[in-house]
Amino acid sequence: MPRPEPTYINFEIDGREVSAPEGELLVDAAKRGDIEIPYFCYEKKLGAPVGACRMCLVEIEGMPKLQTSCSTPVKDGMVVTTTSDDVKQAHNSIVEFLLINHPLDCPVCDKGGECPLQDISYGWGPGKSRYIEPKRHFKKPLELSPLVAIDRERCILCYRCVRFSQEISEDYQLVFLDRGDHTFVGTHDGRPYVGPFSGNIVELCPVGALTSTAYRFRARPWDIEDAGSVCTLCPSQCNITFTVRDDAKVMRVLARDNEEVDDGWLCDKGRFAYQAIAARERVTAPLVRDGGALREVSWERALSEAAEGLRKAGERSAAILGGSATNEEGFLAQRLVRDALGSPHVDSRPSGVLSSAHARVLARPDLSARVSDIDYASAVLVLDTELIDESPILDLRVRKAARRNGTRVVVASSRPSALDPNADAVVR
Ligand code: SF4
Ligand code: SF4
Ligand code: FES
Repeated sequence: MPRPEPTYINFEIDGREVSAPEGELLVDAAKRGDIEIPYFCYEKKLGAPVGACRMCLVEIEGMPKLQTSCSTPVKDGMVVTTTSDDVKQAHNSIVEFLLINHPLDCPVCDKGGECPLQDISYGWGPGKSRYIEPKRHFKKPLELSPLVAIDRERCILCYRCVRFSQEISEDYQLVFLDRGDHTFVGTHDGRPYVGPFSGNIVELCPVGALTSTAYRFRARPWDIEDAGSVCTLCPSQCNITFTVRDDAKVMRVLARDNEEVDDGWLCDKGRFAYQAIAARERVTAPLVRDGGALREVSWERALSEAAEGLRKAGERSAAILGGSATNEEGFLAQRLVRDALGSPHVDSRPSGVLSSAHARVLARPDLSARVSDIDYASAVLVLDTELIDESPILDLRVRKAARRNGTRVVVASSRPSALDPNADAVVR
């Protein structure tokens, strides 16, 4: 399936001429002209919009009523206004409405300072409320899962977490329960929400309703800094941002959206394994076995002992590189073994050596593909691997391709796979 080639059109927004791909949703197209439209329920990576919150209303010339910009594709010659009195009145009303049952407990909310509801209330809200009746109350916070706490009073029922569960990870656990102003998010069977991608809902939630058990109340936005990095816990290499406190402590891992690599998601291993960095069991200083017991020594002593051991082994040395080594580490290891120690024994493949003919075929440029090519593939063959374990983020890609573009999936593996229900054919 070829990638769609966008056709660019011109439209006007708040008096500015803007060029955007035809069919792009207005809420995204507006950003190309540096115009910010507030929104809650819309999230590009969740797929088709649901138009649930009405926060993104704008005026479009020729249309009698305000339109939701998250579900309106942009067209050539469209004239859009986001600052008219009618639009301002609508934004004010929606914010006032959403805050009717919101506890407004920002000072003690873990999301305070990095909360879209807080920002949009300041930027587009009326600054006051006419509502004096008692707000709804829920028991809080509760464990939605061992990793995620839920404060139901703060939820604005935007559907994001539920859509993630239903349409992205396809675990079908999260639903809205009850009706009207009693509606709340939960699992359909009341059990904890457990899945390999559950942490994504914390980042998706535009309010402080869903918080990370491992992070909550450990830092405020003004205590922390961001450091971009890449997850090394599997070959997917998802782009991440470390939340760092006091220049040293990793407090949290967030997605650093890269459509070409991770599509903006992380698996729970990548999101929560940072806690191991500060684990007491970690070896943080060099140890040398001395008289049968391990003893902490200086780096100089440890390196000279290691060099001595390798020198003695010489060409009888061998190196096996693990899957989490980087290309650079692999290159340096083979230099050490081949050039310095004179040994040819270096490998990284658990299943033996590939013949050079095979290696040449696999290196052919016309056989290589980008991760994002999966989105547009006519068919995907999953060959003897369980993506959930080996490269979790690719599991979501394959699901997305099958769900949104009708990509045909064939799973050929020796054991049952989590992708079996999505497969057009399973060979075992
Ligand atoms: S918990 Fe958060 S993400 Fe889920 S519906 Fe409520 S506000 Fe939206
Ligand atoms: S799939 Fe998970 S473990 Fe693999 S790179 Fe992405 S976040 Fe890390
Ligand atoms: S963002 Fe458009 S209706 Fe919610």
